[in-house]
Amino acid sequence: MKTIHLSRIDSTNTYLKENYKSLENFTFVSADSQTCGKGRNQRTWISEDSKNLLFSLLILDEKLISEFKKLSIVTAYSIITVLKEYGINNLSIKWPNDIYYKDEKICGILLEAKTLDKIECLIVGVGINVNQETFIGEYNQTPTSLKNILHKDIDIKELKEKIYKRLIEDYNSDNDFYEEIKEYDYLKNKNAYAIINDTKALIKVIGIDEDYSLKINKDNKIINIDSGEISFHINKLNV
Ligand code: BTN
Repeated sequence: MKTIHLSRIDSTNTYLKENYKSLENFTFVSADSQTCGKGRNQRTWISEDSKNLLFSLLILDEKLISEFKKLSIVTAYSIITVLKEYGINNLSIKWPNDIYYKDEKICGILLEAKTLDKIECLIVGVGINVNQETFIGEYNQTPTSLKNILHKDIDIKELKEKIYKRLIEDYNSDNDFYEEIKEYDYLKNKNAYAIINDTKALIKVIGIDEDYSLKINKDNKIINIDSGEISFHINKLNV
């Protein structure tokens, strides 16, 4: 398995998208800074130079590619288990791909696919706020960092190694982690405004379902949605 560290790159996801043909499964590329970091929904991912953990992992394995629906959530779960080793509790997964500390975002995950006739590879891009203390600009969700929680600097390289090891172990495991994952479901039982098929709707979340889709109640009908079909507009509308 190959690990690459770059001091500066446009985006670690883009790097893997452009180079996947010459790289092996589970190639891990991290960077101190990105000039064009990508977030979900065409947003940019801004990170202070050398303050955070920014990486992407290349998935060429056919079985994992076929299980792409669960990949973001298992990734979030694996990262939570490592963060808990640092003594951080109150962590949860905001379906489909954020990690929250209480009501603040500490990690974002961007899963991308390179598709020709079929899916050639998946790229799991992860940004974890580690030693950055202030976040300037507009954020949909209030950001926080490990340093803001623990009040001390964290060794980014050590954290990176722990997370890489855990991800590979969990990706290779036969366990699908559903029983564990459902205990970390941030949206469970919350009311939220969601954009579903371009229409804004008030929904009640039932929770992450066994197939990793989100079970919701919309207009008194129980439906399951996949990540592409929904984007939460307001996320703190809890009842
Ligand atoms: C989100 O919008 O929450 C997802 C953010 C993902 C950011 C990471 S940083 C490393 C990797 N490279 C990118 O360009 N994006 C991901």
